[in-house]
Amino acid sequence: MDVTTQPPLGLLAELTHRCPLHCPYCSNPVELVARRDELDTATWLRVLSEAREIGVLQVHMSGGEPLARPDLPELVAHATELGCYVNLVTSGLGLTEARLADLVERGLAHVQLSVQGADPARADRIAGARAFEHKLVAAELIRAAGLPLSVNVVLHRQNHDQVAGIIALAERMGADRLELANTQYYGWALRNRDLLMPTPEQLAAAEPVVREATERLRGKMEIIYVVADYHERYPKPCMYGWGARQLTVAPNGDVLPCPAATAIETLKLANVARSSIREIWYDSESFNAYRGEDWMQEPCRTCDRRSIDFGGCRCQAFLLTGDAAATDPVCSRSPRREVVDLVLAAPRTQTDLVMRGPKAAAR
Ligand code: SF4
Ligand code: FES
Repeated sequence: MDVTTQPPLGLLAELTHRCPLHCPYCSNPVELVARRDELDTATWLRVLSEAREIGVLQVHMSGGEPLARPDLPELVAHATELGCYVNLVTSGLGLTEARLADLVERGLAHVQLSVQGADPARADRIAGARAFEHKLVAAELIRAAGLPLSVNVVLHRQNHDQVAGIIALAERMGADRLELANTQYYGWALRNRDLLMPTPEQLAAAEPVVREATERLRGKMEIIYVVADYHERYPKPCMYGWGARQLTVAPNGDVLPCPAATAIETLKLANVARSSIREIWYDSESFNAYRGEDWMQEPCRTCDRRSIDFGGCRCQAFLLTGDAAATDPVCSRSPRREVVDLVLAAPRTQTDLVMRGPKAAAR
């Protein structure tokens, strides 16, 4: 065990990959975990206990759609009894007054609700399902239950022009927090990069709208705005460092240092069937692969920003250069920055969004 490794704060529990939506920006892997390979209830209860034992205080019940799991109430109750703050990350589809009341009774503390657009036509087109009206109802239920509500919106070329409308919608929903995060190009989303990458004009138009709203709504609704990193000079401090704060357990029990880490084909993943969460967090090959700074190459190794952004994103480095230890090519100091510039300059050839779904996944 490396004595400098700190305990994890959060667990992203991906209970299932099943989902009623078909968003083309989905960051889940192209190959989804099938229902028959999902962890059973007893194993999830053990995972939660082991995670708490090594320090986890926040549990994000996520997916796919976590409401697709009938044992969600039991898992929420167990995590709460362990002393964790439990957050539900949901599309809102399947959330009824009775189900929410049960979850609240068992200790659910917070809900993150995804929204795809500012109006039914656009939102439902992006979700690939009639979802918008369900989300309005879900937001009402969440507020009526007295839970804090975060609205999460993935931004991209197909909805970036709606930023003002989306902010107004989140206000109407009574959100305490609105996260406007540009698409990250991992998993399924990478297939649709051509049609998801916002234009420079869209980014320029959104910036003053977000700035004005952030000021106007200060103290009422917090707005987090994350620009597409392909357009930045320096990369994001992805995960605040590899294996530093949070772990993800995938529906089949694979334990990931980052939710997108299955993208790194060279990474040998640990699984809860073979090792405890403690062993995996402290001693596994995958969690130690990019911890600290020893793995860094130049220019990161001697860069004055290495404790700020940790060399950027390992998944992006792998997807764009084939080497997960390379400097994130988004960085203007990376010798491979041209990979990103070429993507930005390339003509857009894709004509149709490839919607997320099991059929498309099989192809
Ligand atoms: Fe960050 Fe590496 Fe770029 Fe320096 S060279 S800014 S550490 S990604
Ligand atoms: Fe995996 Fe950035 S998304 S390290």
